[in-house]
Amino acid sequence: MRKPLIAGNWKMYKNATEGAKLARSLKRSLRDVKDREIVIAPPFATLPAVSRAIAGGNIGLAAQNMHHQDEGAFTGEVSADMLLSVGVGYVIIGHSERRQYFGETNKGCLEKITKALGSGLVPIYCIGETLGERKRGRTFAVVEKQIREGLAGLSRTDAKGVVIAYEPIWAIGTGKTATPQIAQEVHARIRGIIKELFGAGVARAVRILYGGSVKPGNVDTLMAEKDIDGALVGGASLDAKSFSRIVKYVS
Ligand code: 13P
Repeated sequence: MRKPLIAGNWKMYKNATEGAKLARSLKRSLRDVKDREIVIAPPFATLPAVSRAIAGGNIGLAAQNMHHQDEGAFTGEVSADMLLSVGVGYVIIGHSERRQYFGETNKGCLEKITKALGSGLVPIYCIGETLGERKRGRTFAVVEKQIREGLAGLSRTDAKGVVIAYEPIWAIGTGKTATPQIAQEVHARIRGIIKELFGAGVARAVRILYGGSVKPGNVDTLMAEKDIDGALVGGASLDAKSFSRIVKYVS
């Protein structure tokens, strides 16, 4: 069985003091959760403080991005080794905001995913269509291209280690969640593409998270769908009570 994974993407919110406070509070309220993997992704500058705050607990730490090279003259960038050195275990790659505002491409994502896997970081690879693409009936084609190009040439073992996050762009930060049926339909398609590329074993093992306005009020029905293995939560992960409730979804 795939262990559900609930991740909170803090985006560019919370300084080190605020982040550590939220993390301490989550550590307390989620300490008894054993059947779910819990991850929080604070901004780079606050990773050490948040890492200390969750030490010894059951919450994993993610970065929101990384560079694919080991080191070098890349001003403003952060390497996998730097992330590992402050206790990071996961890295979000290709978030739609990075694709939209920072020009990230599927090919660039593949380089980062490859580096993350080689370094022992779990990549959380984000894909999803815009509203215009959905209206034009392009959803499946868009996610298929993102998967084929972003995971091109990975071994089966490596592919198994990738977490995919389906985040329809029209649902991010808009309060417009995909219905469980819409999300399930795309998730099933994503699993089908993974099966074509890497075989049935990998397809069964890969976790596919849903992201886009996940809230305490809609998480239960989303998580009841058979191909939804977790959630990538933005806004609702910034509050201890609401993120805890999402982690403790009932389905
Ligand atoms: P919201 O939950 O705020 O819609 O954000 C989703 C997201 O982008 C998570 O990565």
